[in-house]
Amino acid sequence: MASLLTVLALASTSLGVTIYGQLPLGQTQTEGPWATTTALAAYNDTRLTPPAVPNPAINRNFAVQLQRDAAQVPGLSLPHVGPSFYGFSIEMSVITQVLGKNSSFIQVPFLNLMANLQERAGGVLVRLGGNTQEFATMVEPDDHRIEPGHTFGKTISGSTQTLEFVLYTRDMFYMANNISSMVNVKWFLGIPFNDSANWRTAIAEEGQTILGDHLLGLQAANEPDFYVTFGRRQAPYEPADYKREVGELIQHLETRPMITNPRILIGPSTSGQVWHAEQVFETGFLDDYKDYLYAVSVEHYPNNNCIAMYGDPNSPEAVRPQELFPYYLNHNNVVELASHYTANANTAATYGKPFIMFEMNTGSCGGFAGISDTFTSALWALDYGFQMATQNTTHALLHVGGQSVFYNPFTAPPSNQTEFNEWTLGPVYYSALVMAEAFGKSNTSQIIDLRANENNQNTPAYGIFERGQLSKVALFNYIDDPSGANDLRVALTVNGGVPTSVSVKYLEGISVNEKNNITWAGQTFGNKLTVDGRLRGSPNVTTIPCDQGQNVCTIPVPAPGFALVFLSTSDEALAISQSPTTFSTSAYQRKHNTITWDRQAVQTSNGHNAGELKAKLGSTSFGWLNVASGAAPSLGGRGGPVPLVVQGLLGTMVGLVLGSVLQVL
Ligand SMILES: *[C@@H]1O[C@H](CO)[C@@H](O)[C@H](O)[C@H]1NC(C)=O
Ligand SMILES: *[C@@H]1O[C@H](CO)[C@@H](O)[C@H](O)[C@H]1NC(C)=O
Ligand SMILES: *[C@@H]1O[C@H](CO)[C@@H](O)[C@H](O)[C@H]1NC(C)=O
Ligand SMILES: *[C@@H]1O[C@H](CO)[C@@H](O)[C@H](O)[C@H]1NC(C)=O
Ligand SMILES: *[C@@H]1O[C@H](CO)[C@@H](O)[C@H](O)[C@H]1NC(C)=O
Ligand SMILES: *[C@@H]1O[C@H](CO)[C@@H](O)[C@H](O)[C@H]1NC(C)=O
Ligand SMILES: *[C@@H]1O[C@H](CO)[C@@H](O)[C@H](O)[C@H]1NC(C)=O
Ligand SMILES: *[C@@H]1O[C@H](CO)[C@@H](O)[C@H](O)[C@H]1NC(C)=O
Ligand SMILES: *[C@@H]1O[C@H](CO)[C@@H](O)[C@H](O)[C@H]1NC(C)=O
Repeated sequence: MASLLTVLALASTSLGVTIYGQLPLGQTQTEGPWATTTALAAYNDTRLTPPAVPNPAINRNFAVQLQRDAAQVPGLSLPHVGPSFYGFSIEMSVITQVLGKNSSFIQVPFLNLMANLQERAGGVLVRLGGNTQEFATMVEPDDHRIEPGHTFGKTISGSTQTLEFVLYTRDMFYMANNISSMVNVKWFLGIPFNDSANWRTAIAEEGQTILGDHLLGLQAANEPDFYVTFGRRQAPYEPADYKREVGELIQHLETRPMITNPRILIGPSTSGQVWHAEQVFETGFLDDYKDYLYAVSVEHYPNNNCIAMYGDPNSPEAVRPQELFPYYLNHNNVVELASHYTANANTAATYGKPFIMFEMNTGSCGGFAGISDTFTSALWALDYGFQMATQNTTHALLHVGGQSVFYNPFTAPPSNQTEFNEWTLGPVYYSALVMAEAFGKSNTSQIIDLRANENNQNTPAYGIFERGQLSKVALFNYIDDPSGANDLRVALTVNGGVPTSVSVKYLEGISVNEKNNITWAGQTFGNKLTVDGRLRGSPNVTTIPCDQGQNVCTIPVPAPGFALVFLSTSDEALAISQSPTTFSTSAYQRKHNTITWDRQAVQTSNGHNAGELKAKLGSTSFGWLNVASGAAPSLGGRGGPVPLVVQGLLGTMVGLVLGSVLQVL
C-alpha cells in the first residue's frame, strides 16, 4: 500500500490526475496494458503452477512430543482474550458495497459471515477506515452530493487537487449500530489527521454518541510515517511531531462536550517503512498517553503488487506472482514476518494494551492473482495468524478493498449484478474462521510454535492450550502433491498420556492453486458469486483412535492441507458448524431463480432458523485503473522498505482513477 501511495503522492502533485467514471464488470478496458483484462480482480481465474515437491523428500512420518500441562511449556504466548483473532479492516470507500446502502438496507451475507465468527469466538472486530479516513467528511443527509436514501457519497475536492473524498451521513453510525444489534461486531473508527490545526472530530463525537460501547477505539492517524511522502505534512515530520499532535488531539477531544470517553485512542499505526513503532515509543508516546490508549497498533503487508497494478505489469521490476508463489508456502517467512513485531507486542503488553496489526493482507496494491485468492492464501493467513498470536499480537485486521483487488476476505457483487449473483468469499476468510474456532471463547488460549519435524518449513505445527491444558494441535502441510506421496502422518505423543481418540477437522483444498471447493470440516461457503455467508453441506469431523499403550495418535495431513486436532472429545468447538443465527436471503429467492446454492445442503446444516432481515445489496460505483503504456516506475520489490524516490514515473501515468486506487489499498 505504501508504495502505491508513493506513486499517488507523486502523481497527484506533479500531474493533473484525471478521474474517470466506473467500468462495469465484463467490460474490457480500452486503454493501457490491461486492455485485454476482462474480469475484475476479485473474479480473476489465474492459476499458477504449484511449487515442485521438495527434493530430497521431507520426512513425512514425524513425531511431536506434547505436554498436557501449560506450566511445563516455556515460551507460551500470552492468553488470547476477546473476540476473533482476525477481524476486518474495511476501506471507507467500499462500506456501501460491504455493509450496505443505509442503516435499514444492510448486506445479509456480511451479517452471516460475522455470525459464523461470533459463533466460534464470541464476536468480531471491524475497522472502518484506511487511507480514505483522512479526508472523509460527515455531511447532512440533504447534502446535494449524497443521493437520497444513501449514506455514502463521494466528492472531488477543489480544482487543483483532484482527490476523491468519501462523504457520509450520520446514518453510517446507525448502520454500524444496527449491525451490532444483530451480530456482536465491535468497531474501530479513524479520526482524520489531514489537518492537525483544525481537528475534524465529528466521527469521534457522533460515533461515541450513537455507538456507545460498540465503538472500541479511535485510530489517531493512519501510517503517519508516510505523511511527508504523501504531502500531508511538511518535512520535517518526525515521531516527536506525531507524538505532539496526538497530545493536541487529546486536548481537543477533552473540550468536546459530545466526547464521553477520550481514552480510547489507537496508535501509532506506523507502516514501519519510514519509522518504526519503537521510534514513536521512544518519544514517550506510551508513557505519556497510556491512559488515553485503547490499543497499540501497526500496519504491514509482506509484499506489494504496485508496479503491476498501477504501472507496467511487463516491467522487469513488476512482481511475477509465479516467482513469489513459494514465499507464501514457507513457514520460515511467516516466522520472520511476525518477528518484526514481537518486541512491540511485548512492550504493549507491559502497558496492559492489546497489540493490533491494524491493516494487513497477503500483499498491498491489490495482492497477487493466483496467490491472494487461492488455497495458498488460506494456509498462509492461518499460519501467519497463529504465528502472530504466538508472538503476542492480540488481533489482526484483514483488509477489504473492493472488487479491484485479489485479496478480499469477502466481496460483494458488482452493483448491477446484485439481482442475480451473490458474494464471493476469499480463502483468507476460512483462515479467520479456523482461528476463531481454534482459540474459542474462553479467553485463556495460549499458543506455541512446536517447531515440528526439525522446524521443517513445509510442515509447521502449533500447540494450543486452554485453561492451562493442552486443547488442540494445529498441523500444516504446504506441499502440493496429488499423488499422496507427501501426505503426512504425524505421531502425537502427550506427556501424561493420549486420550482414547481425538477428533480432527480439516481445512482442505484440491491444490494450493485452487480457488474453488475449499472446505472446513467438510463444509464450504461456495464458489465465486454464490456465497450468502452460510456454510453448506454436512459437517465432517474425523475421529482418529489413539494407541494409549504406545501413547500415540497418528494424524494424517494431506498435501496440501491443514488439520486441527481436538484433544478432548467434549470440546465445545467440535459441535460448531453453521451458526444457528442466520440472516435469510429469501427476499432474493422469491424474485430470482438463479441462485446456485444447494438448498438441500443448507437445510441439513441449520440454515433455516433464520432471523429474517430483508436486505438489498448495496451498490456503489467502482473505479478502474487507466494506465498508459510506457516505462515502468521503479518501486523496488517485495516487503522491505520501498524506495521513496520513484524514477521515470511521471511520464508513465496518464491517469489514475482515484476511486479505485483508494479502494484497493
Ligand atoms: C487476472 O489477473 C492477471 C494479473 O493481474 C492478469 O494478467 C490477467 O489478465 C487477469 N485475467 C483476467 C481474465 O482478467
Ligand atoms: C472474554 O472476554 C470478553 C471481553 O473481551 C468478555 O466479553 C467475555 O465475557 C469473556 N469470556 C469469558 C468466558 O470470560
Ligand atoms: C482536510 O480534509 C477536509 C475534508 O476533506 C478538507 O476540507 C480540508 O481542506 C483538508 N485540510 C487540509 C489541510 O488538507
Ligand atoms: C434505505 O434504502 C432503502 C432502499 O433503497 C430505502 O427504501 C430507504 O428509505 C433508505 N433508508 C433511509 C433511512 O434512507
Ligand atoms: C436501523 O436504524 C434505524 C435508525 O436509523 C432504525 O430506524 C431501523 O429500524 C434500524 N433497523 C434495524 C434492522 O435494526
Ligand atoms: C509472549 O508473552 C508471554 C507472556 O508474557 C511471554 O512469556 C512470551 O515469551 C512472549 N512471547 C514472545 C515470542 O516474546
Ligand atoms: C451493467 O451496467 C452496464 C453499464 O450501466 C450495462 O452496460 C450492462 O448491460 C449492465 N449489465 C447487466 C447484466 O445488467
Ligand atoms: C467442486 O465442487 C463442485 C460442486 O460441488 C463439483 O461439481 C466439482 O466436481 C468439484 N471439483 C472438484 C475438482 O472436486
Ligand atoms: C470426511 O473427511 C475425511 C478427511 O478429509 C475424508 O477422508 C472422508 O471421506 C470425509 N467423509 C465424508 C463423508 O465426506
